[in-house]
Amino acid sequence: MKVALTGIKPTGIPHIGNYLGAIKPALELAQTCEARYFIADYHALNSCKDPAAIRAMTLEIAAAWLASGLDPNKALFYKQSLVPQTFELLTMLLAFTPKGLMNRAHAYKAILQANSESGRDPDDGVNMGLFTYPVLMAADILLFDTDLVPVGNDQFQHVEMAVDIAQSFNFTYGQECFRLPQPIATQHSKTLLGLDGRKMSKSYGNTIPMFAPEKELRKLVMRIVTNSQGVDEPKDPATCTIFSLYRNFASPEQVENLRRRYLAGGMGWGHAKQELFEVMNAALAPLRERYAELMSAPEEISRILETGSAQASELAARKIKELRAVIGMD
Ligand code: TRP
Repeated sequence: MKVALTGIKPTGIPHIGNYLGAIKPALELAQTCEARYFIADYHALNSCKDPAAIRAMTLEIAAAWLASGLDPNKALFYKQSLVPQTFELLTMLLAFTPKGLMNRAHAYKAILQANSESGRDPDDGVNMGLFTYPVLMAADILLFDTDLVPVGNDQFQHVEMAVDIAQSFNFTYGQECFRLPQPIATQHSKTLLGLDGRKMSKSYGNTIPMFAPEKELRKLVMRIVTNSQGVDEPKDPATCTIFSLYRNFASPEQVENLRRRYLAGGMGWGHAKQELFEVMNAALAPLRERYAELMSAPEEISRILETGSAQASELAARKIKELRAVIGMD
């Protein structure tokens, strides 16, 4: 069985775009692969130095993935900071990473550009953790003989860098110390639309949080921007934000049915929104309940992460032992 692994940055509570576009597809891989998911907490340290925030975000994001269906009995679920072998591998890999490779990272280049555009020093706010981010990510991946890395398109370059670093290491010692990973896109072919009809994104402030309470969910759905067509006019499903969200939560029969009523006319926007709210609420209510349950027992979340991390650490220790022998440090 192939090994699939992905890192989860501890950020705020995911929105339904994150759920449908990243969490759900990554979790589906557990059906066909040996799956590994981890909270990438050391990656968050580069930008967040507030211990309470790190703790809170770690718990929230862990609860969000568990509530979304991550089964810690089937997949390995751990916290990066509890697998210290990651950081020994990072040190090894740094010696195989040309500085020029890091200079070419899109994420780093974007920061340099933003700095120069606003007249700051190019390296303003760039710490070495941020600069070497792709190497830590390579360590996360290579430590577990990963075949597949489900990520958003913005992370492809980082996985490709992990391949470059692994190849350089393998070539140096003339043996296949590392399996070469392959990025696979989790994103939907169609991006999820937000309340204002643009792509759903935190930076647009047009998101629907995954665990919004029922009343808030209804309020948000009612705020979706529509055109000024009257009730009687036939509506075009292809250009409608309500419809595009509906198809992600309804059954194929329900989608067909709504499509017919759109085209026939006589269907007002308020009515369509009500139906969208109902299918969304039916799909999200069990997740919302499970999330609340988990968050009311944070020690249980920590226990799950500790158990998974102990297992991950055991696997990782074996790998590190092999690698130390290869480099002459046994
Ligand atoms: N960089 C990824 C992100 O920003 C998170 C991540 C860290 C990751 N380590 C990883 C993803 C290893 C896949 C594999 O989303």
